[in-house]
Amino acid sequence: MLTKRGKRLSAVAVLVAALVAIMIPAPLRWRAEVVLLSLAGRIPDIELTQLLAYMRPGSGQWLRPLIETHNPYAVLRNVKTTPADIQAGATLFRSQCAECHAPDGSGGRGPRLIGRQFTHGESDWAVYRTIRFGIPNTTMGPHPLPDTAVWQLEAFVRSIDTSGSTLGATARGSRGAARVPVPYDELAAIRNAGEDWLTYSGSYGSSRHSALSQINRGNVGHVALRWIHQLEGATDCVEVSPVVRKGIMFVTQPPSRVLALDATTGTEIWAYDHQVSRTVPRSDVDDFSVVANRGVAVTLPLFAIQPPVEVVAVDTAGNTVTSFTGFVTIAIGKNGGLLFPGTLSGTKTVAAVNGSATFSDLSIDQPGIGYTLVVTASSLTGAESASFNVLTPSVLP
Ligand code: HEC
Repeated sequence: MLTKRGKRLSAVAVLVAALVAIMIPAPLRWRAEVVLLSLAGRIPDIELTQLLAYMRPGSGQWLRPLIETHNPYAVLRNVKTTPADIQAGATLFRSQCAECHAPDGSGGRGPRLIGRQFTHGESDWAVYRTIRFGIPNTTMGPHPLPDTAVWQLEAFVRSIDTSGSTLGATARGSRGAARVPVPYDELAAIRNAGEDWLTYSGSYGSSRHSALSQINRGNVGHVALRWIHQLEGATDCVEVSPVVRKGIMFVTQPPSRVLALDATTGTEIWAYDHQVSRTVPRSDVDDFSVVANRGVAVTLPLFAIQPPVEVVAVDTAGNTVTSFTGFVTIAIGKNGGLLFPGTLSGTKTVAAVNGSATFSDLSIDQPGIGYTLVVTASSLTGAESASFNVLTPSVLP
């Protein structure tokens, strides 16, 4: 509850804000807005004094986007990155950091600082804060150095990390070859999507809700842009939800291109152009265009087991036991799945009729070599089939 005085004060504050907005010239106005936002606690993780310093002309920073984003992690950049800055950073690093991180950043008592992502935030402002304020409850203490020195340290740390490009290239090579099978059972079992996003709305329930918890209400303000992949010449509307499987993002680009991107870097792994008929209506001319599309769907085609598997109950002499009418259950015996173990789907338990059970809708979701099937039935000895192969069509380009 606001007291009378409190109400009067906040009314005055609103009035002052309005006057400030009207009276001051534009270059000052956005700065005043940033200051007001900061005073209201709406810009987290940066002190007002620092904001003021970075808003000064000549600071090299451009903070106006803070009015929309309220996010210093997305706005602040390291502007101390000249060779001289890196040199100064190197000297500081040797005296302040090398005892734990090694002079070349390869790590020792502290973690390696090259060839990996920073767990405490990758953006320039996040690394600045890590260096300046340290990491609570670890030996990484605060370094209350002048502002420029902290930026120079960061510039040096980035400069010794030349691994980014090579890592990207290896990842591209190895992942490019990888296939992305998605067993139907897995798709059907998803309630809230996790690391993978496998259907247009995340799950067949279409909740669009993610089970991931690393980004939450408390830290969503720190989320910053990591990469952009420009869809070249895509003039038609893009209405796609990218599908993500094992760190690879699949996305369509109108009218008929499918792209696989490395989800951590945005690097293109491959592109596939499908030839569509020239009579396809265009979205800018036709209301019922098929040019805009909803993206890709992933699954591995199921390999139907044909002809139907027939299991016959026999006695020790090899004669059919026609009186047997129990249930027979079938399962994979030897799992020949090449990339992942295969899963058997279809009706896996059937009742025998006249001593014979027929499984007519079985399928296996993974290509493989040397699969066997085993059958069991209560009161009878089980049996195993001869081995067979499930051969793959080319799953992806
Ligand atoms: C006394 C040892 C010690 C010193 C000195 C030290 N660090 Fe660290 N540093 C650590 C440890 C330990 C961690 C890992 C903390 C954790 O996340 O558990 C760390 C983490 C970091 C990280 C974050 C890595 C990440 O994953 O986000 C950066 C960046 C970093 N240090 C830079 C520096 C710089 C620059 C200096 C010198 C100004 C420095 N450190 C000095 C021990 C040290």
